[in-house]
Amino acid sequence: MNRIRAAVIGGGANCEHEVSLASATSVAAALSPGKYDVVRLAVAEDGEWHDASGPIGLAAAIGVLTSCDVALPIVHGPRGEDGTLAALLDLAGVRYVGSGVRAGALAMDKWVTKLVAGAIGIATAPGELLTAASSRACRWTGPVVVKPVAAGSSQGVTLVTDPEQLTAALQAALALDERVLVEQVVSGREIDVAVLGDGGFGRTVSPALEVVVDGFFDFDAKYGGGAEFRVPADLAGSDRKALEDAAVAMYDALGCRGVARVDFFLTEAGPVLNEVNTMPGFTAQSQVPRMFAAAGLAYPDLLERLICEALVER
Ligand SMILES: Nc1ncnc2c1ncn2[C@@H]1O[C@H](COP(=O)(O)OP(=O)(O)O)[C@@H](O)[C@H]1O
Ligand SMILES: [Mg+2]
Repeated sequence: MNRIRAAVIGGGANCEHEVSLASATSVAAALSPGKYDVVRLAVAEDGEWHDASGPIGLAAAIGVLTSCDVALPIVHGPRGEDGTLAALLDLAGVRYVGSGVRAGALAMDKWVTKLVAGAIGIATAPGELLTAASSRACRWTGPVVVKPVAAGSSQGVTLVTDPEQLTAALQAALALDERVLVEQVVSGREIDVAVLGDGGFGRTVSPALEVVVDGFFDFDAKYGGGAEFRVPADLAGSDRKALEDAAVAMYDALGCRGVARVDFFLTEAGPVLNEVNTMPGFTAQSQVPRMFAAAGLAYPDLLERLICEALVER
């Protein structure tokens, strides 16, 4: 059998650059050398494309990508997961793992995600969309969560419990995006469910994972070991079904491909959607690989499934 030439793209010109590099490094290491020729590419924080030798520029990077059978764009956040890399790969005619332009762009936008969820009857935190101009009129009404519409890894996300912190929180979110959300604080357990497509109509839903964190699930808790993942989450059957149904409904409404991690708060009134990640954290220790491992699908086999889906004729 011919070996598959697979481009693994990491990094990215955004605040999740390092997180994406870690995901891509882990993915590249998990692809069996007996089956894959792995070609590593990275996008630097300034947007420059690099191969293993150093900067090569976008044109040469496209040349590398078109020489590959499949690409794995393991880039979280804006100018990656938001559809931009999918667009580049579509235009270059390269098959790739994961969601296309539309699903990536829709899911990256937390405001649009809310609108789509609302349209199909899935609850989200009530929230208001502000820009730099309209944020000046934002008044304190009680504790809120302020966040950029499109960022990641909790960057620019602030739980505001003191009116004095509101302006700084808005500025921190506006530093990462032109649009920000001011949301009511949802109290509930944080439960994530991953959905994996098979290239057709089949969807595999992972066991749910609970994020147990003392305080806020901020950047330090995410990557500093301050959070514990419980998988499978301890859930009543009816809650599990409600979460799974909502996760699949969001996956389909956004038109996702590959794997998406759908994050919820499980409240007394049922699931409240927080966000959909179309390129979730992908180290072997990240949520999605751990969720599927709990169902008996090992990390290399999960990657294999994603690559097979990408290589299916469409
Ligand atoms: N409305 C909210 N109520 C309570 N906690 C929230 C709310 N929005 C976000 N959070 C907390 O902040 C974390 C990061 O916010 P999130 O919207 O998931 O941003 P990111 O895309 O950076 O992961 C969440 O995992 C959750 O712990
Ligand atoms: Mg999140």
